[in-house]
Amino acid sequence: MSETDKKSERSAKGFARKPQMIAFGAASAIMMAMVLFYVFLYPGNIGVAQPIPFSHRVHAREKHISCFFCHTGAIDTARSGIPPLETCMLCHKHIAVEYPPIKDLRAHYYAGQPVVWGQNYWVPDFVYFDHSVHIQRAVDCRKCHGDVLNMDRILVNENVTMGFCSECHKQAEVTHDCFTCHR
Ligand code: HEC
Ligand code: HEC
Ligand code: HEC
Ligand code: HEC
Ligand code: HEC
Repeated sequence: MSETDKKSERSAKGFARKPQMIAFGAASAIMMAMVLFYVFLYPGNIGVAQPIPFSHRVHAREKHISCFFCHTGAIDTARSGIPPLETCMLCHKHIAVEYPPIKDLRAHYYAGQPVVWGQNYWVPDFVYFDHSVHIQRAVDCRKCHGDVLNMDRILVNENVTMGFCSECHKQAEVTHDCFTCHR
């Protein structure tokens, strides 16, 4: 083998290794990005996955739909309630009908099958909670549920515990004896 042949053979090998180097580099960069994401950006309190990816940001913030339009119950009952498909169909009979999640939504509606939404907030049976008493005293949804207006998927406020409830009751000078919440 001549000197030049050896050289070209060596550089050919070097060239063959390059894609591996690039792949390795890319893999490390992706790993690094994932680590950074989990450490700094991933919200640990992300809510349950929903059968249809409903976004509060799109509806409540961008389209300015009031919370009460969908969560009617909050005004005068204990429960806020999740809207039935009829509410969605007031708009999605006509809006974005070709978008796959909306197709799915409409298929449920026309088949008479409700969409079963996962629930993130609940208190145990031995706790009495009522939305309307809070709403009528102008306690903002955000106090308990966080900034829902800017959420795509719900992020759960995990601080909704007994301490949290009674802390506000004390500050607002609302009765906070045990029987208020445990009846
Ligand atoms: C267009 C209808 C619509 C509007 C407007 C709307 N919501 Fe909702 N909301 C839903 C649906 C559907 C769900 C169930 C799916 C989900 O959790 O994303 C839900 C779920 C929630 C939940 C989570 C309940 C749980 O236990 O998982 C909270 C909290 C909530 N909404 C608060 C709000 C607030 C606050 C506003 C106003 C800023 C609002 N919503 C406006 C339809 C709506
Ligand atoms: C008052 C009208 C209105 C109601 C009620 C409504 N939507 Fe929408 N929805 C819209 C509009 C407007 C858009 C944005 C369409 C676009 O950007 O092209 C949208 C977008 C969407 C999208 C796609 C974008 C996204 O949010 O991720 C989904 C999924 C959706 N809606 C589901 C629902 C469900 C489920 C309900 C019932 C709980 C509902 N919508 C109730 C008006 C409405
Ligand atoms: C004082 C705290 C507080 C405020 C204010 C509040 N919520 Fe809730 N919310 C809760 C608790 C606690 C639950 C769980 C209730 C249960 O298990 O019965 C809940 C549950 C819900 C649910 C789940 C379905 C249901 O009916 O329980 C929705 C939707 C909801 N809230 C929407 C809202 C909206 C919209 C507002 C503002 C109009 C609001 N909440 C204001 C504490 C609050
Ligand atoms: C941000 C403040 C705040 C938080 C948090 C809060 N509350 Fe309240 N709560 C109030 C106010 C204000 C009233 C209204 C009292 C009135 O009108 O007499 C009230 C009233 C009540 C009442 C009715 C009391 C009565 O006089 O019969 C119950 C029950 C109750 N809250 C339970 C809870 C529970 C359970 C939680 C936690 C899941 C909670 N609250 C969290 C502010 C709060
Ligand atoms: C403002 C509402 C409120 C008041 C007042 C209140 N609680 Fe609670 N309590 C709750 C809520 C909400 C929970 C469930 C969430 C949790 O465990 O933090 C709870 C849970 C509990 C539990 C179960 C704890 C566990 O770890 O499973 C006990 C026991 C309890 N409360 C006793 C009391 C006693 C005793 C008082 C009076 C000194 C009292 N509570 C006053 C709201 C209240």
